[in-house]
Amino acid sequence: MAMAGRRQVLIGLGGALVAGAAAGTWRVTRMPQTAQTPWLSLNRPVADPRLDAFRHAILAPNPHNRQPWLIRLEGSDAAVLSCDLDKRLPQTDPFDRQITIGFGTFIELAAIAASKRGLRLEVEPFPDGEPQPRLDHRPVARLRFISDGAPGPDPLARAIALRRTNRQTYRPLPPGLLEQIGGEGMQASADPALLAQVRKLTVAAITREMETHQAHMESVRLMRIGHREVDANPDGLALTGPLIEGTSLLGLTNRESLADPASTSFRLGLEDLQKVHASVPAVLWLVTPDNSRLAQLAAGRRYARTCLRAAAAGAAMHPMSQALQEYPAMADLYTEARQLLGAQSSQCVQMLSRVGMASPVIPSARYPLEAHLRR
Ligand SMILES: Cc1cc2nc3c(=O)[nH]c(=O)nc-3n(C[C@H](O)[C@H](O)[C@H](O)COP(=O)(O)O)c2cc1C
Repeated sequence: MAMAGRRQVLIGLGGALVAGAAAGTWRVTRMPQTAQTPWLSLNRPVADPRLDAFRHAILAPNPHNRQPWLIRLEGSDAAVLSCDLDKRLPQTDPFDRQITIGFGTFIELAAIAASKRGLRLEVEPFPDGEPQPRLDHRPVARLRFISDGAPGPDPLARAIALRRTNRQTYRPLPPGLLEQIGGEGMQASADPALLAQVRKLTVAAITREMETHQAHMESVRLMRIGHREVDANPDGLALTGPLIEGTSLLGLTNRESLADPASTSFRLGLEDLQKVHASVPAVLWLVTPDNSRLAQLAAGRRYARTCLRAAAAGAAMHPMSQALQEYPAMADLYTEARQLLGAQSSQCVQMLSRVGMASPVIPSARYPLEAHLRR
């Protein structure tokens, strides 16, 4: 996913930016507005506990922020989740593995939010069968909100609105925090020898992705350049901040320049991403016994909980998925990642994330809940 820290990407165009800022200060300082509303309206009372759970669930981390979740309410206590098949990422996620993980994160956040209302979420995964090798129109899960035997409120609930994917450079975690964030099947390490190998791998993999035309174009097409584009299409890869606003105002940042390996934007972007992917003071990773759809959903649920533990502790996380992706140009780095992270035969490395301390970032864009509801 080629988007990290674009703030810095265009520093080399600083002279032009000064002129651009002078021409339109009001515009270069603007940040997305409506795209952030779903994060900011969680205190509004909502009668139907399912809608309350789902307005939290749409804040889940998900690949390329595609938000592929379709929700059909059923009866008075159930809902069926399915995938908006147009929101998949065929180049970098050819078997919809990561998209399915993004359903696991959604379900976990729904379960945590439901616990605040004294409800337990019963999940029936893939009730009409497990779609392979890609997802199809069949439901991903049927959910029931049940009032008896509900556990108490999950303490991670308060972290849902605080969680972000943070693509800044990182500082080390304070002692003891890594152990607190890992666990529940998420492996964690700050071992210098392992980190040196991880950094080499993640930098090589982000470079490979950007230099693989089709894979990079999948990201470029989903870039939202500046606050207007983000508010108009609150998904995908948001490029915001004064530098982006200023250089796009001047016509220096656009999809063509970001796509062109010969351009300054591309080169500075790649250098920035390499720096970010080498900023790994500690690492978290998740291996499942197999790569079934159930394992992918379970991985998403665990990943979501890990993110919430990190957010609650004031730490930052950022998945670096490139080396885990199953497309031919990545094959050698995919094998290297499996070896490095100890995946045996049928096991699958589902997530690899850096973790550390970082400056805060704004919430990412979201469509409103209504955009996901189907009759
Ligand atoms: C399965 C999965 C893989 C992801 N891989 C990456 C990645 O390689 N690089 C990255 O910057 N973000 C990655 N993300 C994070 C998403 O881009 C992020 O969740 C999304 O843009 C929404 O932003 P938010 O997490 O701040 O709400 C991944 C998320 C998931 C669930």
